[in-house]
Amino acid sequence: MRILVTGGAGFIGSNFIRHMLAMHPEHTITNLDKLTYAGNLENLKDVEDLPSYAFIKADICNNTIIDSLEFDAIINFAAESHVDRSILDSSPFLQTNVIGTQSLLEAAKKRSCRMLHVSTDEVYGSIDWGFFTEESPIMPNSPYAASKASSDLLVRAYHETFGMDLTITRCSNNYGPYQFPEKLIPLVISSALQGRQIPVYGDGRNVRDWIHVNDHCRAIDLVFHRARAGDIYNIGGRNEQMNIDIIKSLLAMIAEKTGTDKETLFGLITFVKDRPGHDRRYAIDPTKIETTLGWEHETDFDKGLSETVDWYLANRAWWSRIISGEYLNYYTSQYGEGFGR
Ligand code: NAD
Ligand code: TYD
Repeated sequence: MRILVTGGAGFIGSNFIRHMLAMHPEHTITNLDKLTYAGNLENLKDVEDLPSYAFIKADICNNTIIDSLEFDAIINFAAESHVDRSILDSSPFLQTNVIGTQSLLEAAKKRSCRMLHVSTDEVYGSIDWGFFTEESPIMPNSPYAASKASSDLLVRAYHETFGMDLTITRCSNNYGPYQFPEKLIPLVISSALQGRQIPVYGDGRNVRDWIHVNDHCRAIDLVFHRARAGDIYNIGGRNEQMNIDIIKSLLAMIAEKTGTDKETLFGLITFVKDRPGHDRRYAIDPTKIETTLGWEHETDFDKGLSETVDWYLANRAWWSRIISGEYLNYYTSQYGEGFGR
């Protein structure tokens, strides 16, 4: 199968492409990515020369380019993905996450091809107790979550109206290698390694369900190959953690691994004004994917967190370039404008 993966230069997309190329040599992958601030081709350096992989720099909203490509299926990761940025300016979120998804749905419709849309548990909103299932109502609270919920509704509508082979996955918070250092876990690690303050929003007791990106990638692989048209799957790690607990675990690990004084690192924790509309707790029930597709999360959280710290320690050049802004010039210096093959 010729698979068009969109947003493959980002965190989850790049891990997914590496997973698919290793596990499914029968497929070829074209990675279409606009290379926004979050897209980084360094994430895929180790696979860029494989004959089964190609990259195209393009916007998912650009129907002309998408129509010129040949593919049998789409997996859509492309999105503006950071809640804080959506609070500052929601426009790119509506453009990419909503209009972009509609553009891909039109491309899939023309070819009668299947599309898997990668979504988030944030579409359900916050829940004080219990768990969201796939049947729970969509109640997004941030502009990011609202844009993802809108795209989910479009996918549903295209399936219902045109009978298209469309599926949706809704995953909880991912962590692992190549995550952009604006998100909590890489932000804490990179800040601690630079001796910078670590901002904790509100009281730090907000809860997220954390899952290793590799477990998410295996789940998407399964849903892509085995789900029925119209299916929605929650993907979660059955691993609820308070932000402040994760931050303290990370700092303790960094202290031990680097020989830095633990109290000095803990002194970087800085409670700041809460994020507006900050969801208190995300919790999803992944029973459906466990029972119908036989998936389960495999990565133990403490082990996964420790390996993630090791990765950021070993790949300081990767995140230092991002933090310095140097990476923005990387593509033009390496490849020139509008490269692709
Ligand atoms: P990311 O921000 O790291 O990567 C997004 C990628 O999309 C980047 O490579 C970027 O260049 C690309 N992109 C953005 N706008 C584009 C456009 N208009 N056209 C083409 N490419 C564009 O995000 P991520 O964390 O890897 O998330 C990937 C997907 O998974 C998103 O759809 C997100 O909503 C979803 N998701 C993320 C998480 C998480 O914890 N990170 C959890 C559940 C779901
Ligand atoms: P984030 O990684 O932005 O993911 P999301 O908001 O999509 O769940 O944030 C995870 C949690 O960490 C969330 O409750 C907000 C909190 N947070 C902080 O306390 N400080 C920070 O600097 C960041 C980026 C997040």
